[in-house]
Amino acid sequence: MSDVTLTLTINGALVPLKNVSPTMTLLEYLRDSGRVGTKEGCGDGDCGACTVAIVAEGADGKPQYQAMNSCLIPLASVAGQDIITVEGVANGALHPVQAAMVETMGSQCGYCTPGFIMSLFTAYYDRAVDDFSLEGNLCRCTGYLSIRRAAELVNETAPDDTFATHLNQASAELVPLDYSGNDQYFYRPTHLSGVLTLLQQHPDATLVAGATDLGLELTHRRQHFPVMISLEAVAELKQVEQTLDAVTIGAAVPLSHIETNLHGIFPSLDEMLHWFAARQVRNRATIGGNLGTASPIGDLPPVLLALDAEITIASITGTRILPLADFFKGYRQTDLKPGEVIVSVTIPKAIALGAVRRLSQSYKIGKRGTDDISIVAAAFTIDLDANDRIVHARLAYGGVAATPVRAIAVETMLMGQPWTLATIQNIKPTLKAAFTPLTDLRGSADYRKLLIANLFEKFFVECQSPEETVAGVVLM
Ligand SMILES: Cc1cc2nc3c(=O)[nH]c(=O)nc-3n(C[C@H](O)[C@H](O)[C@H](O)COP(=O)(O)OP(=O)(O)OC[C@H]3O[C@@H](n4cnc5c(N)ncnc54)[C@H](O)[C@@H]3O)c2cc1C
Ligand code: FES
Ligand code: FES
Repeated sequence: MSDVTLTLTINGALVPLKNVSPTMTLLEYLRDSGRVGTKEGCGDGDCGACTVAIVAEGADGKPQYQAMNSCLIPLASVAGQDIITVEGVANGALHPVQAAMVETMGSQCGYCTPGFIMSLFTAYYDRAVDDFSLEGNLCRCTGYLSIRRAAELVNETAPDDTFATHLNQASAELVPLDYSGNDQYFYRPTHLSGVLTLLQQHPDATLVAGATDLGLELTHRRQHFPVMISLEAVAELKQVEQTLDAVTIGAAVPLSHIETNLHGIFPSLDEMLHWFAARQVRNRATIGGNLGTASPIGDLPPVLLALDAEITIASITGTRILPLADFFKGYRQTDLKPGEVIVSVTIPKAIALGAVRRLSQSYKIGKRGTDDISIVAAAFTIDLDANDRIVHARLAYGGVAATPVRAIAVETMLMGQPWTLATIQNIKPTLKAAFTPLTDLRGSADYRKLLIANLFEKFFVECQSPEETVAGVVLM
């Protein structure tokens, strides 16, 4: 197996590689091979200096240029894929996004510029250049005004034919991979049965999806992974299914697909995805990976707990379905047994028996708007009957305990109560005392306790406003 070649396409040229470590990052490879236009800033997905464009499947199933942080991508994860770096965008003349940056003087020291160029490049082919296309790129010295002007200018430019034609002819299909290099094995099966067989053969293998969490183990902790099984190409894990009653999201579906394809169904999910990391991370991060980290500050668990999600787990012996509430067992511990993999997450659409409307929203409190980790994340679901009495309540939080948690005692107290400010004021002391959060660099325990109670009151107040109702609260 060691003479198997790992092939990438970089700026239109086929690059066959042998005996390279599959977990070398794409950024390391690019720079080691002389493609030093792509910069390293933070090395952990936060600054966007290492952004490249990769042809990947878009939410509509068609090939799309997607901005991704090359510092977090294991080389083998992009085997067979088409990668454009900053060296590849000028085609004789400057590319329109480069010309716009020159025109508006969008660069000073220039260190961040290749990353901005690549984010603008991918957004340009979506015809969707805006602040959100640049949310994952930091600039320390130019000032964002001139970069934003460049983005506005790009929107006024006609599409460039070279790359549009290239994209039309490109394939985003992830082919199976069975590679070894540097005494490490990297498998990319395309069916669940392949994953389960491999897990049986290699019980200590590490599952990897978008690597936006695991990538940090490679870059910062220099951890060695002898055997990795990629889930990115597994057909059964990449599906999104909708019925009248529920939505089922495959564990390997990238968050950017969920954002687009399920928009408007669960407002609390829409809201949380909006504040989740930044575009480059959401293009790779998966829902299964977010649950798999079992991070107490993972942003999707509170939303999914408040929506009574269930997860489907598979092993070679069969499949089991577990309420998400039973999945988190302790700090970064889950109920997953050796040989098991998360297949999908199912979110019921139904509201409680006897309810006539549902109120549901999520909140993320961080130090800054985008690309930050939560101090506290919260998600609430309240179902009301015709007399505005609470018939179903879910209050779920991240950042307040060793695992994502529900305030079950308060949920019980709320049952049958009128949906009024007096009810909220009544339960607030119990809610504030429900958890014993830690003090850390992000916030004190007291601040977190205040947030636990005040975010629920904020939710109540926002539900009274007609504008907020349109923005984020479902009326059913
Ligand atoms: C810059 C940056 C910003 C971030 N911002 C946020 C944020 O705002 N909110 C937030 O919640 N997180 C954030 N994260 C963390 C990370 O992006 C998410 O947790 C993401 O959802 C992980 O998904 P992944 O596919 O990349 O997982 P991976 O890194 O591939 O895997 C993570 C873990 O899950 C396991 N795993 C993956 N898939 C499965 C599966 N199907 N079955 C069983 N185990 C599995 C892996 O073995 C691994 O242990 C951020 C990360 C970075 C680098
Ligand atoms: S180097 Fe900062 S995001 Fe990759
Ligand atoms: S131009 Fe210097 S960091 Fe952006």
